[in-house]
Amino acid sequence: MHSPFLSPAGAPIQPYCAGPDAVGRVEVFEEYAAGLEDLDGFERIWVLSWFHRAGAARLRVIPYLDSEERGVFATRAPARPNPIGISAVRLLRREGRWLHVAELDLVDGTPVLDLKPYATAFDSYPGSRQGWLENRGAGGGPADDRFTAGS
Ligand SMILES: C[S@@+](CC[C@H](N)C(=O)[O-])C[C@H]1O[C@@H](n2cnc3c(N)ncnc32)[C@H](O)[C@@H]1O
Repeated sequence: MHSPFLSPAGAPIQPYCAGPDAVGRVEVFEEYAAGLEDLDGFERIWVLSWFHRAGAARLRVIPYLDSEERGVFATRAPARPNPIGISAVRLLRREGRWLHVAELDLVDGTPVLDLKPYATAFDSYPGSRQGWLENRGAGGGPADDRFTAGS
């Protein structure tokens, strides 16, 4: 991932609250480039990533958007046993094996594990229960260093 965010602190906490500067590129290695065919038609794509700069895994965390400890699997905290991220970013365009994306919440150099189309038919369940996130889906400033290695 090529991103304008050079460190976790300061990056948007999710794509939905990313500003206009959260634009970057996914570089797909040549040997996988043929698999990008037909992705262009999708407005959003799922980027599955590896939080390579996350700190040690924790099972209880205080997530962004809350002030209470929660079980890590009930959150999107990067410092998790398998530090895998899922980001529904906006696909601006494809140039060969490069995907230009907006609404990015990943830092520069983040390894990308997989790409999949975001499908409203499969991936959207409006009205679903939201647990502790109920009524907290909106808002949220940039991240701090709470889940970063060495912090
Ligand atoms: C709360 S996570 C959410 C990521 C993804 N949308 C998800 O739900 O899995 C987003 C934060 O992860 C941090 N982050 C992004 N890329 C990272 C990386 N490669 N290693 C560690 N932390 C990262 C940044 O602080 C960013 O604000």
